[in-house]
Amino acid sequence: MNKHLWQQKWVIGNWKMNGSLQENQQLVQKIHQNLENMDSVCIGIAPPTVYLSQIHNIVKETTHNHIHTCAQDVSRFDNKGAYTGEVSAQMLQDIGVNIVLIGHSERSLYFNEKNDIQRIKIENVLRTGLTPLLCVGESIKEREDGREKEAVAYQLSILKGLKTQYFAVAYEPVWAIGTGKVANKEQIADMHQFIYDEILSLTGNNANIRVLYGGSVNENNAAEIFSVPHVDGALVGGASLKYESFANIINAAQKA
Ligand code: 13P
Repeated sequence: MNKHLWQQKWVIGNWKMNGSLQENQQLVQKIHQNLENMDSVCIGIAPPTVYLSQIHNIVKETTHNHIHTCAQDVSRFDNKGAYTGEVSAQMLQDIGVNIVLIGHSERSLYFNEKNDIQRIKIENVLRTGLTPLLCVGESIKEREDGREKEAVAYQLSILKGLKTQYFAVAYEPVWAIGTGKVANKEQIADMHQFIYDEILSLTGNNANIRVLYGGSVNENNAAEIFSVPHVDGALVGGASLKYESFANIINAAQKA
């Protein structure tokens, strides 16, 4: 990825398990046609794996502002082999993927993916030259117990010793995902500052860092969230599935 992207706001739509050939075509075509001049925003779309090539084929014609194709996950197995159902980082790279989400809390919840597996996945992604986007965030219990920073620090610890100077993290408090309960400005500011400090202490002062906020971001709260210090963008779930709301969030990032 271009170095200047590490100074931009990132707005990435995580479609989760949603979409169809026809719906995707309409939505991405519209984004592609209308949002090309958003030149201070790094736009990304993370569809289900089966639709990655479809999305890439639409966005690869973008001339001004490249729209990035993002994967929601990757195999922990590298290259090729007898791993039924798996898709490797090389395969994602082969079809034009740029960014790979790692460790989304839904992967942890439903597939029991923890630090050890996430670390292997990040290494696979880096080895192929793609950009990992590590998702971190505390549960409601951890926040109620005042252990939110401890939880996030533990998740971030897998960044230590990686062979890169580029670190993209999404802070997604689990209790804010899909609930309509967005973290407040103070909570976001406090945690984003903490994540910056942690990354710098784990990886050194040369780190290029993007920390996105995720969890019930929508067109009404995006501008306020983007105004918080150390918020470098958003990882958007539900609101990325409709053109109007996703475009309004991208517009808010462009103005921020
Ligand atoms: P929502 O925006 O639907 O809360 O989802 C957030 C998320 O999990 C993005 O990865």
